[in-house]
Amino acid sequence: MNNFSKTILITGGAGFIGSHVVRLFVNKYPAYNIVNLDALTYAGNLENLKDIESAPNYVFEKGDITDEGRMQELFTKYVFEGVIHLAAESHVDRSILDPLQFVRTNVLGTVNLLNVARKSWNGQYEGKRFYHVSTDEVYGSLGEQGFFTEETPYDPRSPYSASKASSDHFVMAYHHTYHLPVVISNCSNNYGSHHFPEKLIPLMINNIKNQKPLPVYGKGENVRDWLWVDDHARAIDVIYHNGREGEKYNVGGFNEWKNIDLVHLLCAIMDKKLQREPGESARLITYVTDRPGHDLRYAIDATKLNRELGWKPSLQFEEGLEKTVDWYLSNEDWINHVTSGDYKNYYEALYDQR
Ligand code: NAD
Ligand code: DAU
Repeated sequence: MNNFSKTILITGGAGFIGSHVVRLFVNKYPAYNIVNLDALTYAGNLENLKDIESAPNYVFEKGDITDEGRMQELFTKYVFEGVIHLAAESHVDRSILDPLQFVRTNVLGTVNLLNVARKSWNGQYEGKRFYHVSTDEVYGSLGEQGFFTEETPYDPRSPYSASKASSDHFVMAYHHTYHLPVVISNCSNNYGSHHFPEKLIPLMINNIKNQKPLPVYGKGENVRDWLWVDDHARAIDVIYHNGREGEKYNVGGFNEWKNIDLVHLLCAIMDKKLQREPGESARLITYVTDRPGHDLRYAIDATKLNRELGWKPSLQFEEGLEKTVDWYLSNEDWINHVTSGDYKNYYEALYDQR
């Protein structure tokens, strides 16, 4: 590792978004030291970071954010100027099956990290930053019209979003009570490479490829706002460096899709790539029992981030989706690896309940 530069702790860096953020920071800022702290749960995979694992400004530390002693040890071993906190339980369906795990990781883990940062920095906040990466789901569900802004009141409806909302509140509480220099962003649905295949897009790609049923919840009319994961990583970069202390920034793709339309688009792309007859993959679509409490629509107004920090999404959805499909089709080993073991058992249990 460099011994002349800023050291940043990134939590959850072996996961989907975290791995893109780690890669961006390691490559873009050779003068920074990036410490990736991850518990390597079913969702964390160091294969996601193979290309940068031997970079001189990168180090991996295994650890659980709920473990106070381990977090304290890291804050003593390294002098962190910044924390970018992404580690979390992130899947809504899992939160419905096991809410307490989400409280443990997302609430207790975040508060533990806040506490250790506060104690270690001990009021010496000059040049320090605690960046909490959150979700648009904290705002609840929209009807047909309107957008979430930074002023939209929190109204979480799933155990996952309630745990993220709770962690956001603790982050702001540490700012107001202890003056911890925090910033929060709330992002919409990400897509791209290394996305765990329990989430809609990679699950559908994998099932289309294997000619398995495509489980569309309810009538498929729920709407999500999709953002290319590297655009989220770029937003995290600008917010980390230039976002105003104590502020929240919404991040979104201005790119709303009904689930069923998105699944049809994926089927059409995959038919072409796999040289199937047009319409062949769409025959796999299977409507299944809806997700309990399924939020109807998310849509982000990311005007503040654009106005203050000049960020905007870079990629058209159709182009991004095609790149994503190409990545999954040429990384079969990755899929086989992450879908073995724990994930397989969970997946079977979930569908037994439906
Ligand atoms: P992910 O599930 O792919 O990755 C989570 C990572 O956190 C994994 O590497 C996992 O091993 C690690 N982790 C879990 N529990 C841990 C613990 N106790 N200690 C240390 N590490 C632990 O999640 P993701 O989709 O990459 O999401 C990352 C963050 O971004 C989360 O905070 C999520 O709420 C937020 N977010 C996600 C999206 C999205 O579309 N995926 C959108 C907005 C915000
Ligand atoms: O909005 C940001 C959030 O996006 C993040 O905070 C979460 O971490 C992330 O998982 C994601 O949450 P969603 O619940 O929106 O994502 P998911 O991929 O699970 O589902 C997307 C939509 O597709 C949702 O309306 C449910 C539906 N769906 C999902 C799956 C897995 C299906 O119809 N069938 C499925 O098999």
